[in-house]
Amino acid sequence: MKFLPIHKTLKDGRIVLIRAVEIADATKIIEFVHGFVYDSEFVPLVEGEFNPTLPEEELILKNYVDRSNSLFLVAEFEGQIIANINLDGNQRQIMRHTAVFGMGMHLEWQNCGLGTIILQSAIDWARNHSELELLFLQVYAENEAGIALYKKLGFVENGRMPNMFKQNNRYHDEITMHLSLK
Ligand SMILES: CC(C)(COP(=O)(O)OP(=O)(O)OC[C@H]1O[C@@H](n2cnc3c(N)ncnc32)[C@H](O)[C@@H]1OP(=O)(O)O)[C@@H](O)C(=O)NCCC(=O)NCCS
Repeated sequence: MKFLPIHKTLKDGRIVLIRAVEIADATKIIEFVHGFVYDSEFVPLVEGEFNPTLPEEELILKNYVDRSNSLFLVAEFEGQIIANINLDGNQRQIMRHTAVFGMGMHLEWQNCGLGTIILQSAIDWARNHSELELLFLQVYAENEAGIALYKKLGFVENGRMPNMFKQNNRYHDEITMHLSLK
């Protein structure tokens, strides 16, 4: 099994299940992403842009299931998917030891420690069960909660791309951060 499911307790005492995604989750994942992606000011997607068909989403998930340097974890509460993290391992030979990741959750689950739990789970897997040596991410410079989380778990800033995002004629910088697993 790629990732052994684990139960974790949030700061408010609720217990969540962290497990690897399955291809059969595709419909649930589409619904889950629609539930937060347009509400968050720090996800660079506009209304209607996340629109995969079921077969397309199944293929995306299959790649995370099959690829040894990739992982897609979900957090579940009472059978509902409430958060995810996806480590997207590079498929080129000379960069197979690297993965970029993204994560997200519904608004009502933020600030309960869930981000810490699901990101730490993914880091532990990458360190102990994969060929990954370098994780990195791109984040809105204004995303204080995200940057605080990443720094807490050891990520360091390594770059800033000015004006990377343009929304409603406002520009936002992007910060790049990395974690060396070696
Ligand atoms: C960013 C996100 C992943 C963080 O997850 P989370 O579950 O809310 O984070 P946690 O509750 O584990 O908190 C992480 C730490 O950041 C701290 N923190 C939260 N908001 C903060 C803020 N505005 N400024 C500074 N620190 C902050 C918390 O206190 C916590 O530290 P602590 O455990 O030492 O108290 C989550 O809010 C999210 O999915 N947001 C929407 C989508 C998004 O921004 N995705 C990331 C794209 S790169």
